[in-house]
Amino acid sequence: VSQSNYGLADFFADARRILKDQGLPAGVHELRPYVERLLANPSLFRDHLGDSPPYGMHTIGHDPETDIYALAYLREKGRASAVHDHGPHWVIYGSYTNHTDMTVWRRLDDRTREGYAEVEKAREFKLTAGHAVAFLPGDIHSIQYPDQTRYLRVTGGDVESAKTLVFDPATKTVRVEDRALGQRP
Ligand SMILES: [Fe+2]
Repeated sequence: VSQSNYGLADFFADARRILKDQGLPAGVHELRPYVERLLANPSLFRDHLGDSPPYGMHTIGHDPETDIYALAYLREKGRASAVHDHGPHWVIYGSYTNHTDMTVWRRLDDRTREGYAEVEKAREFKLTAGHAVAFLPGDIHSIQYPDQTRYLRVTGGDVESAKTLVFDPATKTVRVEDRALGQRP
């Protein structure tokens, strides 16, 4: 991937135009390569967080017109997430440094039984640095990444204060997680 100096102001301008023209969900798919242009900018994180940012999640941008958030993640330790959705929000997930192992899940049950859910793996792939993947509202995934991983999430609305679903494939259960309480799946 060749480097760019494409920044968040550029991205938000493109996002306003694309979402206005294409709407959802087409606009989300069209936005994905623009997130990859952000990932190709070697100073993106430094421009917003300085030279030695603390580990954790940092909101590095928000566009009021589209309500798009840009979230930078700097992870010291690797981890595997639960299987989850993003509530009513779309998310474009991009690897900035290192990689994320991505699993996409498919829900099989008819959603009529409270607390019950059957999910199966639909697709697994390694999201390497510079690459982004789009998830529409309702899409289900889980992630796993190694120590010292940096990634970018661009979200339609504020996922991190949303109620999202967390699935346990082994027990065939699903529960609501309120991310506003500081939990993470
Ligand atoms: Fe997620």
